[in-house]
Amino acid sequence: MISVYPHLIDLNDYPVTWWNGLLTQAEDIMNRPFLYANSCNGKIMGTLFYEPSTRTQMSFQTAMLRLGGRIIGFDNPQTSSVAKGENLKDTTKIISSYSDVLVIRHPTVGAAKAAALTADCPVINAGDGGHLHPTQTLTDLLTLKAEKGTLSGLTIGVCGDLLNGRTVHSLCKAMSCYENNHFIMISTKELKMPSYIKDTIRAHGGTFEEVQNLEDAIPKLDVLYMTRIQRERFASPEEYEAQKDTYILTPQKMKSAKSDMIVLHPLPRVDEIQVAVDDDPRALYFKQAKYGMYVRMSLILTMLQSTIKTELLSGQVHKGISCKNPKCITNQESYLPKSFTGTGTTLTCEYCDERLLLEH
Ligand code: ASP
Ligand code: CP
Repeated sequence: MISVYPHLIDLNDYPVTWWNGLLTQAEDIMNRPFLYANSCNGKIMGTLFYEPSTRTQMSFQTAMLRLGGRIIGFDNPQTSSVAKGENLKDTTKIISSYSDVLVIRHPTVGAAKAAALTADCPVINAGDGGHLHPTQTLTDLLTLKAEKGTLSGLTIGVCGDLLNGRTVHSLCKAMSCYENNHFIMISTKELKMPSYIKDTIRAHGGTFEEVQNLEDAIPKLDVLYMTRIQRERFASPEEYEAQKDTYILTPQKMKSAKSDMIVLHPLPRVDEIQVAVDDDPRALYFKQAKYGMYVRMSLILTMLQSTIKTELLSGQVHKGISCKNPKCITNQESYLPKSFTGTGTTLTCEYCDERLLLEH
């Protein structure tokens, strides 16, 4: 299914040259903001946040206001007709017909793609469950480019909830497209990086190792990307309790890091980075959040100017076959075409990337 609009569902749907162009434009916006102050005059951005957000929602809104545009939307679906039982299709269909670009965050994997299928304007994925967060990755790429001066040849430690953390999924997929990046994935065995992300890294020629000890990994790193244990994605409070507080970055641990290692975190932080680390000049997470506003200005402009069409579904619907992932949007919104790529006994859901092994 090809949409006539340029949607951003997964960064890897676009070539690296497109990301690089977006970053270059973001740098120009940072240096010469006055040139862009009226570039979205008369345009409206809709923001539909079905899940809590501070940075993504407000940096998108600020970005649009700084470009001269205006905003509509909700930050709590319970104050909209979602509370009356309206489905995702109808809500996004209506708001996309009021808007020139639509930003959506949703707790269910694949929701942004599902929304894009029938939207009447470009859709930007601001986080779909524990799956992907492409605009956080654009933020991270801009931060790395500005602060490390390169997107290649880096040893990047990603630490914490690698299973449910959508930011590290998008980040590793993207950074493996640049040369010679090596990932050290630091997590407990329960919260390891999903196989489909590791397969993508391998397919791009990226290398990685999986370890459990943060202290041993720190001296090797150029970048330490800390993440929050995603409490809202756990099946029970007990399972969350068993995982929380495993990794806590302290000033003491920072002593064994390289003098030019940088610490990033998509935020919000709970307790995985002690507040005392904030005074270390290598702690760049607050600066990182500000880069997010500039990169989102660049993204909004690009989406409004682009004539690119997006291939949303390229696979097939198989009679009687549905996705086995209970967190997949196709299991919540029953009208969606249950489309899979692949052939033979292995099919991949086009909304959540979950693989389905069929028995014959
Ligand atoms: N804010 C990021 C996200 O929405 C990271 C987090 O919530 O831990 O994915
Ligand atoms: N980094 C990020 O997505 O933050 P919020 O959840 O506060 O939007």
